[in-house]
Amino acid sequence: MKVLIFGATGMVGQGVLRECLLAPDVESVVAIGRNPTGQQHPKLRDLVHRNMYDYGDVESQLQGFDACFFCLGVSSVGMDAERYRHLTYDITLAAAATLARLNPQMVFVYVTGAGTDSSEQGRVRWARVKGKTENDLLKLPFRAAYMFRPGAIQPLHGVRSKTAWVQAIYVAAAPLLSWLSRVAPKYVTTTEQMGRAMISVARDGYPKPVLESEDINRL
Ligand SMILES: NC(=O)c1ccc[n+]([C@@H]2O[C@H](COP(=O)([O-])OP(=O)(O)OC[C@H]3O[C@@H](n4cnc5c(N)ncnc54)[C@H](OP(=O)(O)O)[C@@H]3O)[C@@H](O)[C@H]2O)c1
Repeated sequence: MKVLIFGATGMVGQGVLRECLLAPDVESVVAIGRNPTGQQHPKLRDLVHRNMYDYGDVESQLQGFDACFFCLGVSSVGMDAERYRHLTYDITLAAAATLARLNPQMVFVYVTGAGTDSSEQGRVRWARVKGKTENDLLKLPFRAAYMFRPGAIQPLHGVRSKTAWVQAIYVAAAPLLSWLSRVAPKYVTTTEQMGRAMISVARDGYPKPVLESEDINRL
């Protein structure tokens, strides 16, 4: 498979990139983002692109992919509603609409989160925005699209969050997360498992389009 990753510099994306580079059935990876990954690997190429709302000048480099793993995303904490929507819905749909047009055979995987509101009507703002993003992604003409809704994610293999306060929480909570992943695996997954599950759904599909932690851990 030829794989395109958004957000490969982030916590989820670093883990997904690692698994793609290790997987024998992933032939090549392009990591697109405003910053390079800083990693060197024979299978990896960085595509630095500043404007994540417009892909006109890089369209020729966005064709021929079998899968896109969209791990770019921000926390809504402390962010005004319009900015959160712009960085969540607008960025994701701009990229996905371009990719669906250029790669109709692509499998698109989007990272949302546990509690995402598919009704788009609930009281929690971030959950409504993620719900609308998921719903509109599922309408695009990809070969298939899967929405990953992890709860807590244990970072493995040196993976770090780009968001300082999230990283601080993960460091403080590491022993708790490790214990929870053993006693309540339904609510916790790992960066390694996220990557493996994305590769699995891109290759073999999955019976339903929305995957919770339990589904992710099963793959
Ligand atoms: N971490 C968790 O525990 C967790 C749990 C459930 C769901 N999620 C979801 O998973 C997704 C990824 O989270 P994460 O923890 O990996 O976040 P993270 O470590 O903060 O990384 C965010 C990624 O998005 C990119 N990004 C952010 N804003 C951008 C912008 N304006 N333009 C271009 N790129 C931008 C960052 O690129 P730069 O390197 O350029 O900053 C980075 O690659 C989010 O949607 C989040 O809601 C995370």
